[in-house]
Formats: sequence, C-alpha cells, structure tokens
Amino acid sequence: MDKGKTYEVKNLSLASQGRNNMELAELNMGALLEVKKRFEKEKPLKGVRIGLALHVTKETGVLVRTLIAGGAEVAITGCNPLSTQDDVAAALAEEGVKVWAYKGETKEDYYRYINYVIAAKPHITIDDGCDLVSEIHKNHPHLIKDIICGCEETTTGIIRLKAMEKDDALKYPMIAVNDNKTKHLVDNYYGTGQSSIDGILRATNLLYAGKNFVVCGYGSCGKGVAQRAKGMGANVIVTEVDNFRALQAAYDGYRVMKMNDAVKIGDVFCTVTGNKHIITLEHMQKMKSGAILANSGHFDIELQISALREVATAHKQVRPFMEEYILDGKKIFILGEGRLINLAAGEGHPSEVMSTSFCGQALSCEYGVRNAGKLEPKVIQLPEEIDNQIAALQLTAMGIEIDSLTQEQEDYLNSWEEGT
Ligand SMILES: NC(=O)c1ccc[n+]([C@@H]2O[C@H](COP(=O)([O-])OP(=O)(O)OC[C@H]3O[C@@H](n4cnc5c(N)ncnc54)[C@H](O)[C@@H]3O)[C@@H](O)[C@H]2O)c1
Repeated sequence: MDKGKTYEVKNLSLASQGRNNMELAELNMGALLEVKKRFEKEKPLKGVRIGLALHVTKETGVLVRTLIAGGAEVAITGCNPLSTQDDVAAALAEEGVKVWAYKGETKEDYYRYINYVIAAKPHITIDDGCDLVSEIHKNHPHLIKDIICGCEETTTGIIRLKAMEKDDALKYPMIAVNDNKTKHLVDNYYGTGQSSIDGILRATNLLYAGKNFVVCGYGSCGKGVAQRAKGMGANVIVTEVDNFRALQAAYDGYRVMKMNDAVKIGDVFCTVTGNKHIITLEHMQKMKSGAILANSGHFDIELQISALREVATAHKQVRPFMEEYILDGKKIFILGEGRLINLAAGEGHPSEVMSTSFCGQALSCEYGVRNAGKLEPKVIQLPEEIDNQIAALQLTAMGIEIDSLTQEQEDYLNSWEEGT
C-alpha cells in the first residue's frame, strides 16, 4: 500500500495507466466535459468542500476533475470494497486529490476511509449507497450544520434516505440524482444492462446462447440486464414481486415465474433488486450442478452466501472472481463474492453512460450551492429543466439534432377548445 498525508492507494506507480484510462473515458464523456468547461469559467463551486464515496473508476476521476474545475476541494473514497480501479486512485493521488481507496478493501479500511472523507469536513456529500450520509448522521452529527446538501447516485441509497426521512432522521437536503430521467432510465438500464453481462462474461467466459438466464427484479436495471441477455441468445426468465413489473416482463416476451420454479431450470442467475436474500440457501439446494450466481444490486446481501459458506463441504477459488462451492455434492459458482458483478469483475458502466449520470452529480452540486439554506432536509428532485438540459448536452455530444415544437403546436398542446 502507498500512503501519504492525503492518500492511501494500492500502488502509486499505476498512475500513468490511470491517466491514460481517464483520457480514454473523457473521449466518451463529451456532455460532462461541456459542464467542466463552463465550470472552469464560472467557478460555481468556489470554496466548496465536496466529500465523495463513489466507485473510484476512470469516469469518477473525470467527475472529480470537473468538480475541481468548478473551484471545489475534493476528498474521495470508494463506496464498495471491490469497485476501486487502483490505477485511477493512483492518478488522482498524484494530481493532489485527497483519495483513500483500493480494490479489495477490508471492512475496517472501508469505514476508516469514509471517516477520512468526513474529517475533510465536506459542505456537500456525494454518495452511492448512502454509507457516507449514514456515517455522518450516526457518528458526526455536529458537522451537519455546515453541510449544504448531499447527492445520491443509486436506487438503494434513495431507499435508505427515504427511510431516514420517514423516521425524521434525515437532517440535511439530499438530491436524488438517481431519480433524474437521465440517470435511472439511462445508467441503470443501458449501463447496468451491458456491464453486468460484461462482468459475468469476464468472470466466466460463458456462452450465453441457449442458457436459461434468470434475472431477479425487473426494475430499471433488471430490464436492461434481461434485454442484453436476450440479445446474446439466452432464454431469459424473470422473477418479480411487483405485479405491474411482472406484467411488463411477460409482455416484453420473457418467462415469468416464482423463484422456487426458476431455481430448478436456471443456468445463470443475476439479482438486481436492491433487496435482501433473493436467492437463499434453500434456493441454491434446488439448483442444477454448475449453476452460476451473480449480483448486480448495490449490496452483497441479495445472495445468501453466508449460509452457503456454513454448509458447503468444499470451496475453491476457480479463477479471479469465480468461486466454487460444493453443496450437497453439487457445484454452485458465486461470482465477484456476490458484490456488484459489473464493477467487481468488469470496469463498471461504459464512460458514455456515466457522462449523463455525472452531469447530474455536477449540476446537483451547483444547484445545491445556488440554493444553499433554501432546501428542506428531505429527499428532493433536481428540477426537470436541469434533467432536460443534461439530455440536450448528451444529444449534442452525440451529434444528434432534434425538432422543436412550432408555435402552432405549442398553442394546440396548451388549448382545450380544438377537438374532433
Ligand atoms: N450494478 C450497478 O452498477 C448498479 C447501477 C444502478 C443501480 N444499481 C442497484 O441495483 C439495484 C436495483 O436498482 P433499480 O434501479 O433497478 O431498482 P428498481 O426499484 O427500479 O427495481 C428493483 C426491482 O426489484 C424488485 N424486487 C424487490 N424484491 C424482489 C424479490 N424478492 N424478488 C424479485 N424481485 C424483487 C422490485 O419489485 C423492483 O421491480 C439497487 O440496489 C441499485 O442501487 C446497481
């Protein structure tokens, strides 16, 4: 481990690879670079300290540079023990950013680093999963008076924040970046869809065609995963608990069934629910030998791996990110320790997708600063016009032009007199 006053990273000599990767990411992050260009001129974040607990990837590196361009001082750690790209962490450390993160963090290091970020006394927190916000509320509530707002990146984080709001425990405003259309309908769908398939492939090199691929949860992420698996020739099966989502899955052409039935025929399982114990030990006991289990939901609690570990008669690491357990004489494979498979075994979402998500983060910080003191300590939505502006930035980056409403059309849409 390389340590300095403002960093703790795996290996500083990886920095040049990290810079190359960030340069490559920037090529596909035109929308965010537009925001960065404006931030460089206007400095909307001047004097603002921003603490981040985000996956330390090349795309996050580009976000960090954008926030710094806007005048912010940044301190960052990861938000998942297996998602840090060590080369990027090294490059950020070399650029003078406060960064504490490495791939394969222990639980102690994970929370020690979160506390280093908190010690930097952020005015704005950026979280992916709500661990930073939760730690501040539990153990450092005296800092809250100086916090302008927080920004939350993912569905699971929003679920936790809403639970805090319901309990009257949330003490500063949180912008639900995940709920931007340009986030959950883009990142969760196209991003998680592609990158989860990629993570499973990198871990196994499996042929998808002809396999029974079980997607657990048909929300924004599950829809993307199912569509991509189908595109690779898999027979997709969906499990759900929500009637409407189950109906959507059925109408989208997938087989929908109870988990107890899916476990008997599934070859590959991917959970993306944000919920707990979706695949239990009892489910695993009914599976075919050779079943492959992965999770792409935020926390590693969707697969009941702890119970599997207790009863498995043998265990071996077959190759990186692929473990084999012997259960009742059958082989059960767990990928990426049951953590986010796209980040554990892959590189996470493609840069282009993260560009729109991180426009949401950067513009939420700006919105928070502009409205400092005026926002309620609740989970709030970024105004729709900013979300719309992000979509426009991304279309421009892609070289796509669209039509605008004519005056006649606008008048028609705003009138009620004209009918049959
Ligand atoms: N891997 C990534 O990079 C990545 C990216 C974005 C979001 N996420 C995470 O993925 C998870 C899902 O996010 P989302 O935006 O799709 O959420 P969502 O709320 O849109 O969808 C979740 C779905 O899971 C279903 N579900 C809940 N319990 C279930 C159960 N017991 N069995 C079957 N289905 C069940 C819900 O009914 C819902 O339809 C969250 O944890 C989120 O934080 C991961």
